Amino acid sequence: MLLKSRDIYLRFLRKTDAASLHAAIKENRSEFEKYVFGSTHLHSLRVDQMIERAKLQRGKRQEYFFGIFAAEDKQLVGYVNLYGISQGIRSGEVGFSVRASQTGKGIATTATALIVLFGFKELKLHKIVLRTVHNNFAAWRIAEKIGFVQDGIQCSRLRWENLRCYSMLETEFRQLKPKITRLAAGKKD
Ligand SMILES: CC(C)(COP(=O)(O)OP(=O)(O)OC[C@H]1O[C@@H](n2cnc3c(N)ncnc32)[C@H](O)[C@@H]1OP(=O)(O)O)[C@@H](O)C(=O)NCCC(=O)NCCS
Repeated sequence: MLLKSRDIYLRFLRKTDAASLHAAIKENRSEFEKYVFGSTHLHSLRVDQMIERAKLQRGKRQEYFFGIFAAEDKQLVGYVNLYGISQGIRSGEVGFSVRASQTGKGIATTATALIVLFGFKELKLHKIVLRTVHNNFAAWRIAEKIGFVQDGIQCSRLRWENLRCYSMLETEFRQLKPKITRLAAGKKD
């Protein structure tokens, strides 16, 4: 499966992406430690196991983990995922990461807009959640640019840090769809 924008595209990771994924995770190590709750598992899991696990989770329709690739040279520039998917209440949570050397170009916004369209249109979700540690200002900005609504603050039990919780409901998505479609196409809103 390919989700395409102007400068990037998303596709599921393959075994042959292991070295690039390893390099991308290594490059973002300090950002993960600061900003990504529960990120320690990223360092303990081998990337080939991560790719295999992503395939299994996809088979169970519990998680969709996409690599973000630059259209120009097909290099892996990050990843974006919809995880914790509950088929019962049709909800899922979005996560994203862009290689430190590639930030500031709008990649995370475009990739998140693409996966939000995928979640509501293809997976028929009712709700998508986005949670970020309280001082991850870039992640707040991405959530707000796309149109997520802040629900509140959750006291994190994983990192002793508060999380800012955002969500988007299917009804809100219907209103925001033109704007999200523009962002997914790589246009500034
Ligand atoms: C957070 C992260 C995904 C951003 O990726 P990116 O591709 O640079 O994001 P974008 O360029 O699409 O958008 C970032 C926005 O945040 C803004 N921003 C960046 N740093 C900021 C800061 N310190 N304060 C306020 N806004 C900030 C940018 O200006 C941009 O907004 P703009 O388009 O209005 O100018 C990337 O730094 C990363 O992978 N970090 C580590 C993992 C992580 O934190 N993931 C999020 C978990 S919820």
